[in-house]
Amino acid sequence: MKVLVIGGAGYIGSHVVKNLLACGHEVAVFDDLSSGHEINLFSQAEFVRGDITDSEALAKVMQKGFDAVVHLAAKKAVGESMENPQKYAINNLCGTINILNAMADNGVKYMVFSSSAAVYGIPQYLPIDEKHPTLPINFYGFTKLEIEKLMTWYDQLKGIKFVALRYFNAAGYDEDGDIRGLDSAPQNLLPIIMEAATGKRECLKIFGQDYDTPDGTCIRDYIHVNDLAGAHTAALDYLQRTNESAVFNLGTEAGTSVLQMLEACEKVIGRKIPHLFAERRPGDPARLTASAQAAKAKLGWEPKHSSIENIIASTWRVYQ
Ligand code: UD1
Repeated sequence: MKVLVIGGAGYIGSHVVKNLLACGHEVAVFDDLSSGHEINLFSQAEFVRGDITDSEALAKVMQKGFDAVVHLAAKKAVGESMENPQKYAINNLCGTINILNAMADNGVKYMVFSSSAAVYGIPQYLPIDEKHPTLPINFYGFTKLEIEKLMTWYDQLKGIKFVALRYFNAAGYDEDGDIRGLDSAPQNLLPIIMEAATGKRECLKIFGQDYDTPDGTCIRDYIHVNDLAGAHTAALDYLQRTNESAVFNLGTEAGTSVLQMLEACEKVIGRKIPHLFAERRPGDPARLTASAQAAKAKLGWEPKHSSIENIIASTWRVYQ
């Protein structure tokens, strides 16, 4: 297929581009490089620099004629989304409307969208499956859910079929070392542990040690970015095969606590990592784990790279 990857220079997007190219797709990347990196680009994929809030730039690129769009362009800092919802409304919501309109105008049939576990809010049961109520507790999660609803309407009214992939905690780096762009101001646990290990930051602050979990720290479902990438390619195959829209969780079904992650990092790196315990971070559920049965059954997808050791080792290689 001829695929436009919007946000293809970003952390997850660049891994998706690599996987699509390896599976024989023709790929172009549209990215504003606001958080993506030029070093994440692949020479085999045409690159167009542009912003999704610029409807004219999108209309122009979409005229090149694509079978599918993979849309990963978004602002993703949960805390910032609560302080500056305007930025998230314009980038995530208006930007996606521009993408869908350009797709409708140019007859692009399929969309694979990077959604998030943040659409669920506080878990009512675990593991979370796709039938779990969607009650986001932050504005970032709200934008992801609203985009899923927009895609449902554009499916009904314009025939654009979509797969929304609800990622749990994306982590790890390409095991071949082909993708090396680092987040300049990381907010997520593993990059922060890496910065504490290299001395770039003083220490890791563990947010809360009194949660109702075995060691008192929060549990998350970490999924290797190469596994996530493979799911996007599988989602395109699914759309072509079935011509049906769908929503899938992507996770491992296993949980790792913050302390377990820290200890596993110390083991892989071979030294102690400075850390301290801090207050709970508002809006953090104690546990989040995915049921990925639907992705297994319908996409034939299964995580293969997501052992905690592999996630850490592939990340450490890049941070070193
Ligand atoms: C959140 C979103 C997720 C989104 C991701 C993108 C929710 C429920 N989840 O994941 O959908 O894709 O952000 O950024 O909104 N931690 C520390 N110290 C730190 C950083 C993190 O202890 O310095 C802890 C957190 O409290 C949490 C765990 O590490 O328990 C993982 O945090 P993080 O990497 O920020 O991801 P989530 O908040 O789980």
